[in-house]
Amino acid sequence: MSRTVYVNGAFVAEEDAKISVFDRGFLFADAVYEVSTVLDGKLVDNLAHMERLKRSLGELKMGSPVPVHDIPALMEELVTRNNVTEGMVYLQVSRGAADRDFVFPAEEKPSLVMFTQEKSVAVTGKSESGISVVTMQDLRWARRDIKTTQLLAQSIVKQEAAIQGADDAWMVEDGFITEGSSNNAFIITADGAIVTRQLSNSILHGITRRVVLEIAEAEGLTVEQRPFTIEEAQGAAEAFSTSASSFVMPVVTIDGKTISQGVPGPITRKLRERYIALARGAA
Ligand code: PDD
Repeated sequence: MSRTVYVNGAFVAEEDAKISVFDRGFLFADAVYEVSTVLDGKLVDNLAHMERLKRSLGELKMGSPVPVHDIPALMEELVTRNNVTEGMVYLQVSRGAADRDFVFPAEEKPSLVMFTQEKSVAVTGKSESGISVVTMQDLRWARRDIKTTQLLAQSIVKQEAAIQGADDAWMVEDGFITEGSSNNAFIITADGAIVTRQLSNSILHGITRRVVLEIAEAEGLTVEQRPFTIEEAQGAAEAFSTSASSFVMPVVTIDGKTISQGVPGPITRKLRERYIALARGAA
């Protein structure tokens, strides 16, 4: 069935949507994006996604064709028009179309496109069984804190993981894990501390990461924001990743080594439950 998508001011059938071949998002990955989850027909933590969008735009000195504070209403309209109860809204702002030139166009006409995807997110087979990850060299640029559509490095590691029969890839730089292909990486130590890499330009500042750390602290768990190695992760009591589209995803093997008992651990399960309850409540 054809979806309704949003392109530069209009809601149109997906087969009628048009973007210029000169769009800089297409030519230079000169575009930023957000993925917001839909639960019970409502957007989860969407204002935090809008704040990050503003920051990404600011870092790249890119405008938005619609004021960012007006975007949530358009997203809600898209969710309604497509009757989405569970899934996500993808939105992308690019610097727009201009003759191909590495220098930014003097007069920018940024473009905004959005579409929905239906997907089960609250209960999935993988969230019950946990996933396998393999580690790979982080091939990305130095500004991973900006959520750009420059995703080829992530696509390559995830494809390589699939070839190896794994569910995801965790990326490694200078001996330490940065993050997952499209998620933040966490481990739980034998004494129950939650460890995840500190915020910097080396990782995306995940919205789910932030909420999960708040939940962990409210639960009285110790949080350590620091880098960790593959070996430390393989020896951890539990491991998981976080993202808008997977919430808290248990990781049960890393490079073929089973984490603890090879099933989602109790703290990971609890964080996932709490996160989903909070998301449903606040949505
Ligand atoms: N990815 N790190 C990377 C590299 C990501 O691409 C993402 C999100 C995250 C988690 O951020 P958040 O919790 O705000 O979703 C971390 C989205 C879901 C995607 O590209 O589909």
